[in-house]
Amino acid sequence: MTSAHSDPSPVTVRVPAKVNLELLVGPLRDDGFHTLSTVYQAVSLHDDVTVALDDDWGCSVSGPYADVVPTDATNLALRAASLLAEETGVETPVHISISKSIPVAGGMAGGSADAAATLVACDRLWALGLSTEELEEYAAELGSDVPFLIRGGTAVGSGRGERLAPVLARGNYHWVFAISDIGLSTPDVYAECDRLRGKSSVPDPSPNSELMIALRSGDPHILAPQLTNDLQDAAVSLRPELGELLASGMEFGALGGVVSGSGPTVAFLVEDVESAIDLTVALTATGAAREVRKAIGPIHGAHVIPARVD
Ligand code: C5P
Repeated sequence: MTSAHSDPSPVTVRVPAKVNLELLVGPLRDDGFHTLSTVYQAVSLHDDVTVALDDDWGCSVSGPYADVVPTDATNLALRAASLLAEETGVETPVHISISKSIPVAGGMAGGSADAAATLVACDRLWALGLSTEELEEYAAELGSDVPFLIRGGTAVGSGRGERLAPVLARGNYHWVFAISDIGLSTPDVYAECDRLRGKSSVPDPSPNSELMIALRSGDPHILAPQLTNDLQDAAVSLRPELGELLASGMEFGALGGVVSGSGPTVAFLVEDVESAIDLTVALTATGAAREVRKAIGPIHGAHVIPARVD
């Protein structure tokens, strides 16, 4: 394929964060990943990623988390653009501008979201015309949860989290995310999960049918007791403050609470928008979290929006 492009205008893609409603961790595989069964939901915290043709490959980040995101070749969005270019024979460099609002390193897949957005944006900019399925295949090479950020909504993830199947989910759910200051690395949390399990053998996990029934009901009271994360004990073992944060949220009226992904962000499910405001105020007042954010889910995956006017 040549580097021809029919639309040279910059392309902006909006991409959501995710929360895992259920994260069941199975055995460690030979490739260093764990077999997972997870239920993802896309939530309304988002990044906007703009790709524009440029003389050289590059990346810049703006927004509250700008200073903690690398802009060198380790940036997952830049890797996404390089991968897509290599695989499709494109030789036209792009500059990627990330307007970042998803908390960084919080278990909400912010880096994966930017990679997902970059794939969708470059596909449009370079006029590749790839299908969602083809983009999801490239996404899986970049990280376990990147395909889901392209798809959005609510979906079951299997394999290492990259193989997706749709879920019938009704209604909208109100979430409050307590973003903690403490750092937690994803590989460390998986390793702690293995350590806590010791030598006991773990079966391949499969989705919990009670959770599927809860999602069909659309009722947050039915969903709340089904929120589960096998990484939660590991995250709390490494950072006991997270246990206290979970308890505070429940005391302040959350219907349910769970560590998001590998943490340290804690996700609370609440009844409605008023409860979300009340919990946000109460948790902010404790000072136990660096930041508290409200969101709703499910929402769309990565999609092109009209270009930003800065
Ligand atoms: O795929 P991703 O880049 O998000 O994975 C980051 C790390 O999390 C992996 O290197 C691995 O240590 C751990 N992981 C895992 N099993 C999975 C997904 C992630 O052990 N299914």
